[in-house]
Amino acid sequence: MEPLNLWSAATYDRGVPYEYFRYLRDSKPVVWQEHPRWGGFWSVTRHVDVQRVSRDSECFSSQPNPFLLEDQPPSTYDEATSGMLISLDPPDHTKMRKLINRGFTPRRVRDLEGRIQATVDRLVDQVSNRRGCEMVGDIAVELPLQVIADLVGVPEEDRHQIFHWTEVTFGFDERFSPEERHQASVDMFAYADRMCEIRKNEPHDDLISVLMEAEVDGESLNQLQIDVFFMLLQNAGSETTRNLITTGTLELIRHPEQMQMLRDDPSLIPNAIEELLRYTTPVMQFVRRPRYDTVVGDQEIKAGDPVVLWYVSANRDERVFDNPNTLDITRDASQHVSFGAGGPHFCLGASLARLESRIMFEAIVDRFDGLELDVDDPDSLPRLHSNLIDGYAELPLRWRAVKPAA
Ligand code: HEM
Repeated sequence: MEPLNLWSAATYDRGVPYEYFRYLRDSKPVVWQEHPRWGGFWSVTRHVDVQRVSRDSECFSSQPNPFLLEDQPPSTYDEATSGMLISLDPPDHTKMRKLINRGFTPRRVRDLEGRIQATVDRLVDQVSNRRGCEMVGDIAVELPLQVIADLVGVPEEDRHQIFHWTEVTFGFDERFSPEERHQASVDMFAYADRMCEIRKNEPHDDLISVLMEAEVDGESLNQLQIDVFFMLLQNAGSETTRNLITTGTLELIRHPEQMQMLRDDPSLIPNAIEELLRYTTPVMQFVRRPRYDTVVGDQEIKAGDPVVLWYVSANRDERVFDNPNTLDITRDASQHVSFGAGGPHFCLGASLARLESRIMFEAIVDRFDGLELDVDDPDSLPRLHSNLIDGYAELPLRWRAVKPAA
C-alpha cells in the first residue's frame, strides 16, 4: 500500500484510514514515516506495542509535548504546552499529578452527577419542541463545557466567554489566525488569574480553590501552573467527550438493533460506552520520545526519535479484539486504549467522561422517539480537520417526538 501522510489533518477529512492501519499492523507494526518538519517519526500501530511504550515512562518522554505537529512552524502555543501536565515527565509529572488529584477525587466527580443530569435534561428540553437539531452545536459541545465549568467554578455569566476562548484556542476552525488563538489563550490565563485572586480572600467549594490549597511534600502549585492546567482542562475535557457523544449517537443510529437493545435494557449503557470508546476512539494518537536507544516490537529506535502511539489502530487490533470492525455493545471492550494504554498519563478525566456520557446516552435512548439522521449519506457529513481528534463537525438529527425528562 502507498504510504499515507498520517501527520496531516487532511488525511482524516473523509474518516480514519482503518484499512491502511490494518495493513501497517499486519506488515509494518513499527514503521518510519516521513514528516515535513521532523524528518520522520515511528508509527506504532499494534495494541501490545502501544501499551509497552505508554507504560515505560522511564524511557519514553512526553517532552516537549505529546502532540503530532502538522507542517506549520512551531508556535508560542507549542512552548506554552511544555509545562502542561500532559507534557511533563516523572518526577515533575508525579508531583503535579498528585496535587491535581486532590481536586479530582471520586467524591468530587460523584458530586457532579446531579448537575450533569440537570444540564442534560435542560439541553434535551431546549430542543424538545422541535422535530430535529444539529447535535454538535445544540447539545454535544455544550454539555462537557458546562460540566468543566461546574467543576472548576466558572460562574454562569462568564461561561460563554470561556467557551468562546476555548473554541478559538483549540477549535479546528481555520477562520481563526494564530494571533487570535494566542490572544484567546492569554485572555484565558488572565481569567484564571482573576479567579484565583477572588478565592485568595474567599475560598469556594470548587476545583480552583482545591488546587490553590493543595500541598504535597510541602509543595504547592504556582499561579502559572494553575493557569496552564485551567487551559488544559478546557481542552482535554471538552473536545474529547463531545465527540464520544456525537459519533456514539451516529453509530447507534447506524446500528438500530444495538440502539434497540439499549432501549430494552438501559443497564447495558455503561458497557456500550466502553465499546463506543473503542470503536470511535475520539483521541487518535499521542507522541513520545525515547531518552535512550531502545527497541519496540522488533524495531530499534534511536534516542529522541518521535514515536506516535496510534490508539485508533490499537483499538481495532484483531490480536486483541475479535471482529474489531464490528460494533458490539455486549462485548468486553475493557482492553481499549481510548483513555491511554496505562502508564502515568492515563486520562485524569476518565471517570468524569464515563459519567457524563452515561447520563447523555440514557437521555438519547429514553427520550427520543424515532431518532434518525437527517442526511441522506452519512459519509458526506463534515468531519473535524484534525490529526488528533476524530469526530464530526455537524450531525443533523430528526425525530418523531421527545419525551419529558423522567
Ligand atoms: C471521551 C472523553 C475523553 C477521552 C477519549 C480522553 C482521552 C485521553 C487520553 C488518550 C489521554 C492521554 C493518555 C496517555 O497519554 O496515556 C488523556 C489525558 C488527560 N485527560 Fe482525557 N479524555 C477524555 C475526557 C477527559 C475529561 C472529561 C477530562 C477532564 C475533566 C480529561 C482530562 C485529561 C487530562 C488532565 C489528561 C492528562 C493527564 C496526565 O498527563 O497525567 N479527559 N485523555
